[in-house]
Amino acid sequence: MSSLPIRFPADFLWGSATSAYQIEGAAATDGRTPSIWDTFARTPGCVEGGDTGDVACDSYHRVEEDVALLKQMGARVYRFSISWSRVMPEGRGATNPAGIAYYRRLIALLHEAGIAPMVTLYHWDLPQCLHDEGGWLNRQTAHDFAAYANRMFEVFGETVPYWFTINEPWCVSFLSHAMGHHAPGARDLQQALTVAHHTLLAHGLAVKAFRQRQLGGKIGIAPNVDWREPFSQHPDDVAASERGLDWFNRWFLDPLYHGRYPEALQAHYARLGAHVPVQDGDMALISMPTDMLGINFYTGSYAMARHTPVALPEQPDAMAKIDAVLDLATVNVPGFAKTDIGWDIFPEAFYKVLLWLRDEYGNPPVFITENGACDNTGPSDDGQVHDAVRVAYYHRHVIALNRALRSGCDLRGYTAWSLIDNFEWAFGYGKRFGLVHVDFTTLARTPKDSFRWLQRLIADGGCEA
Ligand code: NOJ
Repeated sequence: MSSLPIRFPADFLWGSATSAYQIEGAAATDGRTPSIWDTFARTPGCVEGGDTGDVACDSYHRVEEDVALLKQMGARVYRFSISWSRVMPEGRGATNPAGIAYYRRLIALLHEAGIAPMVTLYHWDLPQCLHDEGGWLNRQTAHDFAAYANRMFEVFGETVPYWFTINEPWCVSFLSHAMGHHAPGARDLQQALTVAHHTLLAHGLAVKAFRQRQLGGKIGIAPNVDWREPFSQHPDDVAASERGLDWFNRWFLDPLYHGRYPEALQAHYARLGAHVPVQDGDMALISMPTDMLGINFYTGSYAMARHTPVALPEQPDAMAKIDAVLDLATVNVPGFAKTDIGWDIFPEAFYKVLLWLRDEYGNPPVFITENGACDNTGPSDDGQVHDAVRVAYYHRHVIALNRALRSGCDLRGYTAWSLIDNFEWAFGYGKRFGLVHVDFTTLARTPKDSFRWLQRLIADGGCEA
């Protein structure tokens, strides 16, 4: 056994993660049709620099190279997503043989390399044709998703041991339909609530289809969670932090684990005229037991009650309404270092949120589906990429993970975000999260110091404190 102070079980599943639109490119190749992200990226002003995923990292044509990198890292699992419009160009109905062949090849390469495939079914790239029929606002999309998922289970069910339905439902709903930062760029509270419900419903319907097939694999959902540390133990600050957790975490996790939405927040939204379109039987579907909970974690913050109540402007937009409901101030505690995307580095928040999940939801098996840092460091004169901020970020978060594990959290694995630098959504290619540097002119891949750090961690089964 390793003598390192920070040790993980031998069967802990280490690996890395990506998503289809962020890395594949080949946007119009072999029958793929546009998704809402192709449309959004082409809309002036939506993505920095006018970047698109047309070419991205061209992983569609470089899949051998990417799997070789995973093998070199020692990854035991690779989390990637399937592009719905590549495998089912009309959103429903017939599948596209070329699209299926691409993922079949990727999965075969992973198996040859001894790496377990972990599939995310929806990482934000809704087929544009379904969006034209209302997209996630249309309840039918939940059923279309389940039919697409069911087809993927049929085709890949025997070769894929791990499945996640929806990546970050908060982003699909609030970030995309209330804040307007992501495709399709709407700014409406009612839309966000409707979409949140339909994505959860889509998840439930897919889990039901998965169970009916009696496959041997495991299935879950991958929400992003956040931590709101009360700024003080003053009851007002504690209450403010709870409201923050309600809107970001419990809004999704309570339906999944308790079969209901948080009541107080629901009542607040209702006072603003926004309702959840729940129909009979929905909550039972949404709360169907899953095998694991995927957690994406990046940052946290301190929450303080506001001392002057938030007044609604005359014509409030969605965020003004949410602000008024939450009635909390996010406090930047001086001294926090930030990553290159401006997010506080707060590993203690990772530890705390994992303990909170353990206590609030009956210690479900958790898989860390994403964690990582934006560090834009490029190649030095020696040709190497010395991404010291990312190395330190991983080190501190792996220690926090270890503390949670020792505290009894049922943690099963960790896929670092991301294998390679890629299309960082509205930020385009200017924000780098990769363990491997990508030169977006030549598409050459260069493993960074953080890649070697993770490689060492996996090989040693632990690290120094
Ligand atoms: C979460 C998303 O799932 C992923 O697509 C994104 O690149 C990272 N966060 C970093 O922002």
